[in-house]
Amino acid sequence: MTTIEYSYETCLDGSVNHAWTVDDCFQGRDFDFTKPFLPDRIAGVDGIDCLTAFEKRQLNQIRGNSYCHIFAFVEEYIVPMVVDHARGDVYGDETRLWSLLRFAEEEVKHQEMLRRACSQFEAGFGTSCGLIPGREAVAGVVLGTSPLTALLLTSMIEWFTQLHYVEHVRDRAELDELFRDILRFHWIDESRHARMDSLLIEEVARDLGPAEREAAVDGLLELGTAVDGLLAQQGELDIDALQLATGRTFTEAERDEIRTHQQRAYRWTFLVSGLEHPNFIRIVDELTPSGAAKLAQAATTLSA
Ligand SMILES: [Fe+2]
Ligand SMILES: [Fe+2]
Repeated sequence: MTTIEYSYETCLDGSVNHAWTVDDCFQGRDFDFTKPFLPDRIAGVDGIDCLTAFEKRQLNQIRGNSYCHIFAFVEEYIVPMVVDHARGDVYGDETRLWSLLRFAEEEVKHQEMLRRACSQFEAGFGTSCGLIPGREAVAGVVLGTSPLTALLLTSMIEWFTQLHYVEHVRDRAELDELFRDILRFHWIDESRHARMDSLLIEEVARDLGPAEREAAVDGLLELGTAVDGLLAQQGELDIDALQLATGRTFTEAERDEIRTHQQRAYRWTFLVSGLEHPNFIRIVDELTPSGAAKLAQAATTLSA
């Protein structure tokens, strides 16, 4: 069983005491397009030999835009999922109910923040950048899996969101300040959400047998494969966007080189950094005997 060291009460206190609005994050600012937006661990542009330093920065910024879009995209299902868990015991523990409603509300706020980031980007970057469609269909797929699978995906996302900010963005003064703040404000809420995910996982897993838990981990890895497909689609749109921004037409060899670097970076960002997160591994390890080994295998395959 999941080790419980969190409570709805402390999460609710944190939510109330650290509440922020989208305007608090933006403070009327725009992006500074003379700066990179993402650390190279996420953007994966530094090693691409066919691009100039200027073009690498353009691709870094394109990746900043798609980072915001993909977060909004993959978090879309969290609002209805959390509302369903809140409604499951609507006349029960009021602290649980209130903290879950705030969790859902915060995710709606994140959607607003990330969409505003994408529209300011679109206005300021100069050329149009394609973004993958179909967020509602993807949300439907996630919500169509088992409740434990959807919660495990949420937990993984909320842990890697924090890791991206704390380990790769927080101390990086060379990155655009507004972009860093978007990740900082997101982190403020996600650090609580990850704890509430653990509480919900505990509640749901309590009634499940070993086979059902194991199946939930398998379901998570199937969702990971679907996410990988979406990342590949976005990667192609990014290369098209870079062509438009630079006025170049890449040869097949250049396109291949960019694609290889970008695939590795996308996979690390949205899959491997979650599959390898120690807190997430611990959660899965406490649920199932072989889940952690499956995560490690998937991470190795995606890093190859
Ligand atoms: Fe979020
Ligand atoms: Fe969240």
